[in-house]
Amino acid sequence: MEHFNVIFKPDGKQITIHAGATLLEAAGQAGIILNSVCGGKGTCKKCVVYLEPDGKQILACQYRIQSDLIVTIPPSSRYFEQKILEHGIDAHLNIQPTVHEKYRNKDRIFGLAVDIGTTTVVAKLINMTDGKCLATKAALNPQSHHGNDVISRIAYARTDVKLAELHRLIIDCINDLVAQLCKQASINAEHIYEMCVVGNTTMNHLFLKLPVEQLGQAPYKAFSLDAHDVPAKKLHLKINSNGEVHTVENIAGFVGSDTTAVALATNIDSAEETTLAVDIGTNGEIVLGTKDKLYAASCAAGPAFEGARITCGGRAVEGAIEAVVVDNDDIVLDVIGNSGPRSICGSGLIDAVAVMLDLGIIDASGRFTNPDKPSSAINSRIREEAGQPAFFLTDDVFLTQRDVREVQLAKAAIRAGIKILQRKLGIADNDIQHVLLAGAFGNYIRPQSAMRIGLLPNVPIERIRFVGNAACSGAQMILLNSALRAEAKQLACEIEYIEIAHEPDFQVIFAESMSF
Ligand code: FES
Repeated sequence: MEHFNVIFKPDGKQITIHAGATLLEAAGQAGIILNSVCGGKGTCKKCVVYLEPDGKQILACQYRIQSDLIVTIPPSSRYFEQKILEHGIDAHLNIQPTVHEKYRNKDRIFGLAVDIGTTTVVAKLINMTDGKCLATKAALNPQSHHGNDVISRIAYARTDVKLAELHRLIIDCINDLVAQLCKQASINAEHIYEMCVVGNTTMNHLFLKLPVEQLGQAPYKAFSLDAHDVPAKKLHLKINSNGEVHTVENIAGFVGSDTTAVALATNIDSAEETTLAVDIGTNGEIVLGTKDKLYAASCAAGPAFEGARITCGGRAVEGAIEAVVVDNDDIVLDVIGNSGPRSICGSGLIDAVAVMLDLGIIDASGRFTNPDKPSSAINSRIREEAGQPAFFLTDDVFLTQRDVREVQLAKAAIRAGIKILQRKLGIADNDIQHVLLAGAFGNYIRPQSAMRIGLLPNVPIERIRFVGNAACSGAQMILLNSALRAEAKQLACEIEYIEIAHEPDFQVIFAESMSF
């Protein structure tokens, strides 16, 4: 049979497919899910695409491929919105005039907002005159070679020599980012005078070369919760030799200045209605409350949502399945990049478990069960793998019973944390009026699936909002307006930290939160 090449724009994904296949099928095989409400009958008109070069509009489900094609997919025809790098919420950028006063004699004044994550470091170059962000760069935190989570970094940094090594790694990483940002914006690093840095408490301490040993043992006290102002020179940061670095207040040993910055950027401290801000990561940080009272907690979710400890799990990189949906009698997958599916990342994992629940492949306890009248396509996906029942998304990517258990543990940690904070405030799920999902991962999960697996409280879907990298937005606000430093300080004092593992019935709530 004859085969043809189809290229999909703007993704650039390519596929070779047999003559007579529909463009809807071709897109699906290329890892792009199109809207197909009518199931390909040609009646819903949701699968519109354009043929190059003349831009002819056609329905993908009705068009049979008889030649090589270049096809443009409009955003309105995609099941999932295209990924746009989130730079964070629109921070209310209030530029404090003292910046100009302070650097009265300088003609070009720039600043840096930096968010040091356990996995990723994000830096934004800011024009201090008009508050505009000129460039954003991100890099893998090079300390990752010494452990993926804060606990292993703390363990590594036990001696002064090792602490200095981790400190130097993060300084080098930020200096690299500075060089890249300056190159992109065509500016000289000498014109960067200020830096505002946020991060979790461990990252904050490693950046400042403060001891971290006490963070690794109960009662997990930080060496310092305070803000610090340090000459850039002292930290060997390659900005202006008189440049200054400001680090924001941490809230507790496991809730750092990144959470303070999220609280500031989202204005949660002036919320009239109950608001929940969640940053899902290896450590899930949550803040819940209103302007009258705010609680924060950290949940040890573990690395499952980052793909670790999952048989076919991986980070959200090329070839990772990032979304799974039921389509007619089978499932369809959305894959990152232009290659076939090789692994599954956190958002795909949450989707896959939600789909398995919907199809009755697993029950509310998470156990594999016999689904009621599965289609033959679904049935063929349920097989044994290494002596365990497993659900095959592709021939090589599957979820075993043990993988489902890992997801349950991770989601239960976060959900239990939220429940305990809800109890402190005496509120039910439905009393939460706004759910703000922060951080890179939060932007990619599908709220329906997160609620289906019980990761988030049961609230109407429209109450859930993505706020991007709110920690970096908060750092940017503080950079531009030093009056906000006082507000950040007050916030860090006012937010009451709850050590959830010490709550008397934590184990009971955690166990309850395991079920779907
Ligand atoms: S899928 Fe409904 S018209 Fe194409």
